[in-house]
Amino acid sequence: MEPGQGPGGQPPHPPGLALVTGAASDIAPATALLLARRGMPLAVADLDGDGARRTAAEIQASGSQASAWQVDISEPASVESMRDGILAEMGVPWVLVNNAGWDEAKPFLDTEPPFWDKVLGINLIGPIAVSHAFLPAMIDQGHGGRIVNVASDAARVGSAGETVYAGAKGGVVSFSKSLAREVARHGITVNAVCPGPTDTPLFRAQPENVQAALQRAIPMHRLAAPQDIAVAIAFFASAEAGYLTGQVLSVSGGLTMAG
Ligand SMILES: NC(=O)c1ccc[n+]([C@@H]2O[C@H](COP(=O)([O-])OP(=O)(O)OC[C@H]3O[C@@H](n4cnc5c(N)ncnc54)[C@H](O)[C@@H]3O)[C@@H](O)[C@H]2O)c1
Repeated sequence: MEPGQGPGGQPPHPPGLALVTGAASDIAPATALLLARRGMPLAVADLDGDGARRTAAEIQASGSQASAWQVDISEPASVESMRDGILAEMGVPWVLVNNAGWDEAKPFLDTEPPFWDKVLGINLIGPIAVSHAFLPAMIDQGHGGRIVNVASDAARVGSAGETVYAGAKGGVVSFSKSLAREVARHGITVNAVCPGPTDTPLFRAQPENVQAALQRAIPMHRLAAPQDIAVAIAFFASAEAGYLTGQVLSVSGGLTMAG
């Protein structure tokens, strides 16, 4: 059997359209540009429509095809409207990268239900809604596919001050494993990438003493760059990774070595 082979012994499908969410900022643009360099047309989506358009323009300037979409992934109706537009204008994605995420670090006892709803809505309902919206078309197309969910090492080893977020990302890891079992027979893989501390505004929003302590603890003595995370996402998104599913990969410079 060839790597990336679809169900029923079909030959590997050449990489098709990739959708990347959270496309305005940091890890997503790095991922989208890497996938574009590997020959994939891109649909890039974000709550920040102008930011998504900036990323699409950057991809187009590099010579690849890209379109930008404004979406609130925590609202299933918004996701379905984006899905309808992408299917009509660009076709069926072969890769879904559920990357958009959000948090505000604070002690658990200082959090309130509206904050829980927001954190769970963006970080957990978002990947669920995007996967649910696109999977029927991916399955009907019969070419297999790749779903890569960006979780967090907060899900694997915990993170004080990010307790609700860690719960949401833990949900993303469990969701990825169970969905992987459900769609394996369609040649669709589902995997999770868990970034450790990464040099983006989401990380810089944490208290300075927390940032400094984390950086000191990383065996490689530097934060991840967005490109470090993009490489792991692109690996799971590749045709060659067709026999890997339900897996969780930490990208943390050795900070976490979860078994
Ligand atoms: N930066 C880190 O240290 C770190 C660590 C672990 C995990 N992560 C995860 O990596 C992913 C990317 O993080 P990043 O650091 O690039 O974050 P970022 O804040 O730079 O980018 C996140 C993007 O998601 C978008 N977004 C937020 N809510 C949205 C919504 N409802 N609908 C659509 N888009 C929305 C934002 O507009 C933003 O462009 C996230 O899932 C994050 O949780 C980041």
